Amino acid sequence: MNIRKVAMIGCGFVGAASCFSIMESGLFSEMVLIDANKEKAEGEALDIAHGLPFSKPMKIYAGDYDDIVDASIIIISAGANQKPGETRLDLVKKNVAIFGQIMPEIAKRNVEGVILVVANPVDILTTVAQRLSGLPKSRVFGSGTVLDTARLKYLLGEHLEIDSRSIHAFIIGEHGDSEIAAWSSANVSGIPLSQCCEMRGFYNHEKAMQDIAEQVKNSAYEIINRKGATYYGIAMSVKRICEAIVRDEKSILPVSSYLDGQFGIYGISLSMPAIVGRNGVEALVPIQLSDDELSKLKESADTLKKAIGECDCL
Ligand SMILES: NC(=O)c1ccc[n+]([C@@H]2O[C@H](COP(=O)([O-])OP(=O)(O)OC[C@H]3O[C@@H](n4cnc5c(N)ncnc54)[C@H](O)[C@@H]3O)[C@@H](O)[C@H]2O)c1
Repeated sequence: MNIRKVAMIGCGFVGAASCFSIMESGLFSEMVLIDANKEKAEGEALDIAHGLPFSKPMKIYAGDYDDIVDASIIIISAGANQKPGETRLDLVKKNVAIFGQIMPEIAKRNVEGVILVVANPVDILTTVAQRLSGLPKSRVFGSGTVLDTARLKYLLGEHLEIDSRSIHAFIIGEHGDSEIAAWSSANVSGIPLSQCCEMRGFYNHEKAMQDIAEQVKNSAYEIINRKGATYYGIAMSVKRICEAIVRDEKSILPVSSYLDGQFGIYGISLSMPAIVGRNGVEALVPIQLSDDELSKLKESADTLKKAIGECDCL
């Protein structure tokens, strides 16, 4: 396996933007782009490669499934995106069918890397990928709520006028309408969030937090209504996850990973903060949750289980 090689399956808005962000990062020396539309993959590979004189040398090309075998990370962004008014769960049938084509191609090759699912609904497709790839579940995970968590930190940073990197807070559960802002563990460099709000002159916490959580949840709808797709935020999220893997950082990121009894949830992937390194998801981090957050997390898991139960391909 070549730790410095990454493969992208799906080169639409999300795949191409992620490849651009990955190229700029200098993390890899080889990147292969694969798409059902080969010309699209070729065009994106050329366009992105033309930026290399301003970045770090690497090989960027359009390829096929034989090229994924030695990649350390195989990213899957292939799939239909949400149209205005559609929820992520509305995409289940279309994208499970697409995964039904992609996963056997991966399963029949002896891949040693990790699989990072980005296509939506990401939690369901991660569960599908785990089942169809035959790989250990720790090596198959989704981008989950890494993007939603970034949106939460961004909005809190704006609200408090504090660098969003100093804010520690997670969106957990489904990457979708049943996601939960885990307020009870949120803090700003160790200071409880409510205390930090007061320090910055804000007192109406409950209303402000509700508004921010709603804005996070509705971000994708707002962007899709205006420009038709979201891709820059997810591209940065994908780059960040790749960084944690390639550099074996053991960073804590809310990726979508398999729960086998943790938090009382079984047999489904959803997002909880997890330690991410070279071998994928090492362990979940047992953050403190209030009773209300825990019961909403279980509702979120039930929503996903119901949607999976309705997939006739599994
Ligand atoms: N996880 C996240 O946070 C997040 C954020 C934004 C978008 N997304 C999701 O990412 C996915 C892609 O979105 P997009 O805007 O790039 O869509 P897009 O329509 O621009 O691109 C999809 C690409 O997938 C390709 N494709 C379709 N079937 C394929 C197959 N069988 N094999 C290989 N390639 C195939 C298409 O040719 C196309 O290039 C969507 O499901 C979207 O909802 C996820």
